[in-house]
Amino acid sequence: MSKTLGDDGLDLLFRTARTHSAWQDKPVDDALLARVYDLAKIGPTSANMCPMRVVFVRSPAAKEKLKPALDPGNVAKTMSAPVTAIIAMEVRFYEQLPKLFPHADAKAWFKDLPENVLEYTALRNSSLQGAYFMLAARALGLDCGPMSGFNNALVDAAFFAGTTIKSNFLCNLGHGDASKLHPRSPRLDFEEACKVV
Ligand SMILES: Cc1cc2nc3c(=O)[nH]c(=O)nc-3n(C[C@H](O)[C@H](O)[C@H](O)COP(=O)(O)O)c2cc1C
Repeated sequence: MSKTLGDDGLDLLFRTARTHSAWQDKPVDDALLARVYDLAKIGPTSANMCPMRVVFVRSPAAKEKLKPALDPGNVAKTMSAPVTAIIAMEVRFYEQLPKLFPHADAKAWFKDLPENVLEYTALRNSSLQGAYFMLAARALGLDCGPMSGFNNALVDAAFFAGTTIKSNFLCNLGHGDASKLHPRSPRLDFEEACKVV
């Protein structure tokens, strides 16, 4: 018999979880960040390619490196967050495929593809992993504040120079201050967004 998550779990992951911009003065230790990654890494990706790479920006020096890349509306929430995760992607993800997909020569399927195909493949799969990451963070009691309002080229130059890693999106992490939230915006109903054919 398949198991399902109870109401408390569904509330924690979805129904009461919100995107946070204001943070309580509560620490987030490195061991918890590792637990978030260790759950998120299990979510499925194409050929198990696992292209997501994460830089946890915590120190004041690292936050200052990130600051010039942020859109003005994202500066205060990011500088005050206990940790900001740079959710990034390894565009040469195929180098890890002999380890990650050992039962076939999956590296050969990808290594000669054009750069733009490698990039959108990495983007698709690292975005999925980024979503698993946020759900893992919520499951472990953290709040998230995802952001795409930043200059990717500046982040890449500051954090990934000399590599083939590129930033995807940023995600503030901490314990949110729910008193600062606006009311939740509506979502599309099933009839508006879906059809069964
Ligand atoms: C990929 C992504 C990029 C986002 N970029 C920004 C951003 O740059 N700045 C910001 O304030 N919010 C940003 N958001 C937050 C969304 O507006 C927010 O998650 C959405 O309105 C749902 O809010 P809720 O989770 O509180 O219901 C982003 C969210 C996602 C998932």
